Amino acid sequence: MKKLSRVLIFISAFAIPIYSYAQQKVQNEYSGQHQIPHLKKQGTATQLIVDDKPFLILGGELGNSSFTSLEYMEPIWPKLRTLNMNTVLAPVYWELIEPAKGRFDFELLDQLIQEARKNDLKIVLLWFGSWKNSMSSHAPSWVKKDQARFPRIKDDKGISHEILTPFSENNLQADLKAYQELMKHIKKTDGNDHTVIMIQTENEIGMLPTARDYSLLANERFQENVPAELLQYLERNKENLVPEFSEIWGKNGFKNSGTWEEIFGTGLQTDEIFMAWYYSKYANSVVEAGKAVYPLPMYVNAALNRPQSKPGISYPSGGPLPHLMDIWKAGGPAIDFLSPDFYFPDLKHWCDLYTRQGNPLFIPEHRFDNTVAAKAAYTLGHYESIGFAPFSVESSGTPENEPLGKMYNVINQLTPMITAHQGQNKIEGVLLDKQNQEIVFQRGNYEFKVRHSYTLGYENNSRNDTWDMAGAIFVQTGDDEFYVAGSGIVATFKNLSNPSLNVGILKVDEGRFENGKEWKIIRHLNGDQTHQGRHVRIFLDNYSILRFELYNYD
Ligand code: DGJ
Repeated sequence: MKKLSRVLIFISAFAIPIYSYAQQKVQNEYSGQHQIPHLKKQGTATQLIVDDKPFLILGGELGNSSFTSLEYMEPIWPKLRTLNMNTVLAPVYWELIEPAKGRFDFELLDQLIQEARKNDLKIVLLWFGSWKNSMSSHAPSWVKKDQARFPRIKDDKGISHEILTPFSENNLQADLKAYQELMKHIKKTDGNDHTVIMIQTENEIGMLPTARDYSLLANERFQENVPAELLQYLERNKENLVPEFSEIWGKNGFKNSGTWEEIFGTGLQTDEIFMAWYYSKYANSVVEAGKAVYPLPMYVNAALNRPQSKPGISYPSGGPLPHLMDIWKAGGPAIDFLSPDFYFPDLKHWCDLYTRQGNPLFIPEHRFDNTVAAKAAYTLGHYESIGFAPFSVESSGTPENEPLGKMYNVINQLTPMITAHQGQNKIEGVLLDKQNQEIVFQRGNYEFKVRHSYTLGYENNSRNDTWDMAGAIFVQTGDDEFYVAGSGIVATFKNLSNPSLNVGILKVDEGRFENGKEWKIIRHLNGDQTHQGRHVRIFLDNYSILRFELYNYD
């Protein structure tokens, strides 16, 4: 009897959530509603869930002034479709939505959202509020013109710049209220459709032309003790702080009380930490206010700093940069993640830094150059990122020829396969060029050696001094079964669990997914196309999906 009642308790513990989930499902189906877009963990990966399915953002960001009229956007929509994008990253401008204090105008935004729907595109809205590339150029005129109420930062010479100071409550409240109205409006008009799937709060926050603000409000704060909230966070996370920040805090012996300079020393690095704290608090308050009405995922982005460059002088000081990650996490718990914008090389270096402490990777901007197709595949594969977006995508004159569109086409087809296997060590991305010709990794029992297809010397351009980048995503779907989507790769294999066995290629098919799931074979690849069973390959000018099976023989 006792046993039976234990079993019943056990069953009912599971039955309740299952029942309520089922009920919820029925309700959703009945009302045609899906859950609001949100982030969800699957194994080690963070997925963006849109309409109850994991969604990979195959995106592109618009130039800063494009999303300002229907007329200007008209010829752009077909380009975005030709690029096979599923998401457009587009600004929403404070100055346009709140032209007079408390008077909101969402007409243009509504029309643009309608157009996005017609073009089957999701939107990540970029809130150009208090800051856009450090500056406050998108603040409405009633803010800009009332410097007494909405104070600016000052540099070390006491000169004002067109940058709202993060130390003013008036500034914060004005921004926050507009943001909240925006989120209310999106909830009201898009709460069922979910065309808007995520929000970037502000844009490339950071202080210029000095490492810290020297306005009256800022100077007062700078003389005060470091807030206990920050110090408690640092104490609690002492063992897991990023090493470059831990080193700074450690220099004066990990002090847990005192002014900014007493704890972190004097100099630009302390000025930057100080700014990062107050910027993150400000952005966090804006995000919290927005999420209180409509909790879409919200993130912030950063202009990266070149090595040895000085905060405030050569890059915006205090933004959500890797060396300030701990400060931003402490000050911005409501912010879902920090994102890098790429305008100089070293993608791997920065992505490695940004994926510390479980920060999910999303790349909202990358210079629209000839590397983006390969990098999209690589970052979605290797970092299992939420998405990728080159900047100013509409600038392409011939979108039908863009490698990006070809790459997005194959990744899009493979998306259900990718998302089903995320976070379980089943996916890998590769990025190869003349300097990095080969990469070795393990999936299941197999070691993969993947080389740039030009290493074979078969393709015309393989004798050129520089090689266009190659990139691909591999997905392991069975013990011996794999898919690869991308271009410019040649793969060979070893059996790691039993090295005395040889690995053979049983089958390679080139194909496509139809209706989102049915695998349709276009060609069986063998003979010259697999070097008589020696390798699996896609040439650089091809963008394709291959399914292949391996086997072992002695
Ligand atoms: C990064 C910014 O975030 C973008 O809005 C844009 O200004 C680019 N830089 C450069 O054009």
